[in-house]
Amino acid sequence: EKDKSLRPSTLGEYIGQETVKERMRVFISAAKQRGEALDHVLLYGPPGLGKTTLSNIIANELGVSIKVTSGPAIEKPGDLAAILSGLKKNDVLFIDEIHRLNRTIEEVLYPAMEDYAFDIVMGKGPNAKSVRIPIAPFTLIGATTRTGLLSSPLRDRFGVLNKLEMYKIEELMEIIKRSSGILDIDIDDEGAKEIAIRSRQTPRIANRFLKRVRDYAQVKNSDMINGKIAVEALKLLDVDENGLDSSDIGILDAIINKFDGGPVGLNTLSAIIGEEEDTILDVYEPYLLQLGFINRTPRGRVATKLAYDYLGVPFTNEEMLTK
Ligand code: ADE
Repeated sequence: EKDKSLRPSTLGEYIGQETVKERMRVFISAAKQRGEALDHVLLYGPPGLGKTTLSNIIANELGVSIKVTSGPAIEKPGDLAAILSGLKKNDVLFIDEIHRLNRTIEEVLYPAMEDYAFDIVMGKGPNAKSVRIPIAPFTLIGATTRTGLLSSPLRDRFGVLNKLEMYKIEELMEIIKRSSGILDIDIDDEGAKEIAIRSRQTPRIANRFLKRVRDYAQVKNSDMINGKIAVEALKLLDVDENGLDSSDIGILDAIINKFDGGPVGLNTLSAIIGEEEDTILDVYEPYLLQLGFINRTPRGRVATKLAYDYLGVPFTNEEMLTK
C-alpha cells in the first residue's frame, strides 16, 4: 500500500499527541526492561487521527510482530482462537473497531487478556468439559471511536487508556511537510497552511488533500505547492475555507433554517442529511463542536452564533440570546 510510506514508524517521527507519546515511551521501556508483554492498550478518538499508525509504532518500538484485524472481521470464536494461538511471545494484536466484536467473541477475549489462555468446550451435554489452552503473553491494542461504545467488562481489562486529540494547525503543517518530502514535492509554508486549515484537524485528511494538490500542481506544471495552488486545488474538492463539506453545511443549515437554531435530535439530523447517526457522532460532530459551530444539549444539538455568522443568517434564537 502506497499510503504506508507516509506513516511514521517510530515515536520520534510521529508528530503531535505529546501526552500519549510520553506515556507510551515509559510503558514500552518498562515492559522491555522486564522482558514482559506491554499491558493492553485502548486507543480512542475520531477516525483518521492515527490509531492504526500508533499501534504499528508501538509494536515496532517493542521490537515485536503485530497482527492486525478488526471487530467485524472476527466472526466466530474459533477465528479469534486461531489468531491468539498464532501469536509469539510479547507480540501485539491490534483489533480495530473493537466495539464491533460480538458478545460471544468478547468472552473468548477476557481470559486471553487476563490469563493468556482461552477455554474450549469439549464434547456435548452432561459429558462436556472445558479445557484451558495457554497462549503466549501478548499485548492487545484495541481501537474505537468512543469509549462509551465498549462494554464495561471489556473496557476494564485495558491497563492503558489513550484518548487521541484532534491536531493543531502547526502539527498538521509539520505532517504535510514531512509527507511532501516523502512524496518528493516542494511546498512552502503558505501551501502547507492552506491544506492544514481545511483538513478538519485530521492527518488522514491532510495527507489525502496533499496528494490531490500534488496532482493539481503537476498538471499545472508547477514544481512547488504554494498557497495559490493549494487553494485552487482544494476548491475542486468541495471543501470550504474551514474544511466543511456539503454534509457539514447541511447539518448547520438544517439546525438553523429548519429548526430555528435547535435543539434538534440526532435521529432527525440523520434523516435530513442522509448519514448514519454513528457517522454524525464520529465524523461530523467532533469537528463542528471543535469549531464552536454547534453545542450539545440534553434535548439535542443547537447552532451557535458563530454558525449563524458563517452561513450569513441573522442570529435570532431567543433561547440562545438569553444564555
Ligand atoms: N501521518 C499520519 N499521522 C501522522 C503523525 N501523527 N505524525 C507524522 N506523520 C503522520
